[in-house]
Amino acid sequence: MISIKSEREIELMRHAGHINYLTHEEIKKYLKPGVKTEELDKIAHDFILKNDCTPSCLGYEGFPKSICVSINDEVVHGIPGKRKIKNGDIVSIDFCVRYKGYESDSARTYIVGDVPRDIKNLVENTREALNIGLSKVKSGVKIGDISHAIEEFAHSKGLGVVEDLVGHGIGTNMHEEPDVPNFGEANTGVTLKSGMTIAIEPMLTLGGKEVCLTDQDDWVIVTMDESPSAHFEHTVVVTENGYEILTGE
Ligand code: MF3
Ligand code: CO
Repeated sequence: MISIKSEREIELMRHAGHINYLTHEEIKKYLKPGVKTEELDKIAHDFILKNDCTPSCLGYEGFPKSICVSINDEVVHGIPGKRKIKNGDIVSIDFCVRYKGYESDSARTYIVGDVPRDIKNLVENTREALNIGLSKVKSGVKIGDISHAIEEFAHSKGLGVVEDLVGHGIGTNMHEEPDVPNFGEANTGVTLKSGMTIAIEPMLTLGGKEVCLTDQDDWVIVTMDESPSAHFEHTVVVTENGYEILTGE
């Protein structure tokens, strides 16, 4: 079942999304070479609680921390710990913030210091892929239109499109129907309607599309070919004429 949110529900998601945005801005201040990923987690955790919200990744299916920090070839679900960020890393920060029972989900990838041109392009084009996906959103459009636009753009830039992980509906649960893949055929799938809330999240690579778990834990997902990967995500509400980003400025 795909739920249509009421204006009251959207207002709660708007607030969750706003705190999500402010938490990203707070983390950004500390994202420098030498910082431990668990320090970023603590900054985010404390900030979310101080704003009367819940860091809903913490404990989600047993996830042990409040944010995901995924570095270089790690695609998603990196677990914060003692590891330090280094010059030349690309760092994806992804987390959910809950307010009065409603979720928001957003991810960004940062370039730390100097990286080669191709990796810089990967990050910039993944941000652009999210914008291209967003630009399709409006009542009456099909999910496949978003998926296809993202895939076509990524391939035009020579990037790999991760298929094993997808965007999703969101609301009282972090993951709801429908799936929002980053690949597929235009004019297929679920038709968007005003009041649906979805998270669009392209995950692109400098190599192939294949990903796998490591043998270190049951969470972190890496590219099979060890190529770097970037990830951007926003939670949006579909409107008659387009969309409103709930996790934006
Ligand atoms: N944006 C991530 C997702 O949709 C959030 C994961 S939280 C975690 O999977 F707890 F699962 F890590
Ligand atoms: Co998500």
